[in-house]
Amino acid sequence: MPSPNQQIRPLTAQVNARGNLEIGGCDATDLVAAYGTPLYVLDEVTLRTACREYVETLKRVYPGEALAIYASKAWNMLALCALVHQEGLGIDVVSAGELVTALQAGVPADRVYLHGNNKSVEELTLALETGVTLVADNWWELHTLTELGVSLGTKPRILLRLTPGIECHTHEYIQTGHLDSKFGFDPTNLGDLFTFLEGNETLQAVGIHAHIGSQIFELQPHQDLARLLVEIYAKGLHFGLPFQELNVGGGLGISYTESDDPPAISTWVETVAAGVARACEALNLSYPKLICEPGRSIVGPAGVTLYRMGSQKVVPEVRSYVTIDGGMSDNPRPITYGARYTALVANKPEAAPTETVTVAGKHCESGDILLKDIQLPPTEAGDILAVFATGAYNYAMASNYNRLPRPAAVLVHDREATLVLKRETVMDLLRQDHLPERLT
Ligand code: LLP
Repeated sequence: MPSPNQQIRPLTAQVNARGNLEIGGCDATDLVAAYGTPLYVLDEVTLRTACREYVETLKRVYPGEALAIYASKAWNMLALCALVHQEGLGIDVVSAGELVTALQAGVPADRVYLHGNNKSVEELTLALETGVTLVADNWWELHTLTELGVSLGTKPRILLRLTPGIECHTHEYIQTGHLDSKFGFDPTNLGDLFTFLEGNETLQAVGIHAHIGSQIFELQPHQDLARLLVEIYAKGLHFGLPFQELNVGGGLGISYTESDDPPAISTWVETVAAGVARACEALNLSYPKLICEPGRSIVGPAGVTLYRMGSQKVVPEVRSYVTIDGGMSDNPRPITYGARYTALVANKPEAAPTETVTVAGKHCESGDILLKDIQLPPTEAGDILAVFATGAYNYAMASNYNRLPRPAAVLVHDREATLVLKRETVMDLLRQDHLPERLT
């Protein structure tokens, strides 16, 4: 089976006997009839295949202990946390909200890692009370954790987040001594950090972490990162720190369009694991527990957003606009990053794409364009547009701009759809409002 991150569509996507797009055996037109639009559809086979490729490749190629943890910022939700946990992954969380969701989903605390460059005292306290590992980001956090650890009578278990000067711009990268980043400790000045930790009886510094970027197609930066981290890891051991874990972050890219060509999940894992193993052997170190933190490559390819198409506008000799009943509120990536996607008309997936159109969202903002100048067959109001590879950082970054309630999500598998996220209603939004009496 191909690696999910190299496919634009979910692995189970196909045209069915009715001539419609189906995912997980569910006809897209039936899904929207039952659940409305916009609708996020998550394909269980694609999700589980991606998880297994991480878990099985780590097991096959890395000589020491290893753990893949799902970077749930890509899409944190009970069903997803529970599913990746079933597949043997841990979870990376970045806030109390994500942390509580992971624990509520049944993920044991010893498989949860809390990130963040400005964790609140409440979040740090929650982490200590629940017993998760923290990825410590800065000096303020180390001091606060020490105080909290003493007052709560716990020994915070921490990894140190480092910014090792490998900077990725998706298709190129640079290595510098110092990195302009809001995250982590500068590894050019480790002496003070390691000395502080060595003399600190409260904090247990169990390892190091780095994350160099997202939607990366090159392997070389991660190979270089593996070597650099092992060197720092060795230095920590030399200072007498109880290091045992080495976390290389996430970042593997996925295919959004035909021109995207990421390496397979297995190739990425092989590169990272071999890089860490080789560097350990060169320094005569026993293998640390190797952790990686994929987000996008787990959930991105499994997601499809279904929209109902609406009005159309032709600007003669300039552009043809077609519209959908969502937009930048359910997928802010095009307006935020200029991200490009691939789409299909789900109720006529085999019709010849003879027209060049721009798919606009329904928000009161000219920049609310989901897909610019793409090829589609002739469409009309009522058609269903499927936009692929929308599982990662779509719902996670969704908003209520223009007071649009956020969409529902269904998990599809074996011809069955299960609601995993209820559609918001206008009443849900109004419930948060308070109208002071003096204004009525
Ligand atoms: N670990 C850390 C510490 C991270 O900051 C991230 C992503 C990941 C792991 C997961 O990276 P992934 O495997 O998903 O590339 N909103 C942006 C992406 C932001 C990524 C933030 N950090 C987007 O929509 O492209």
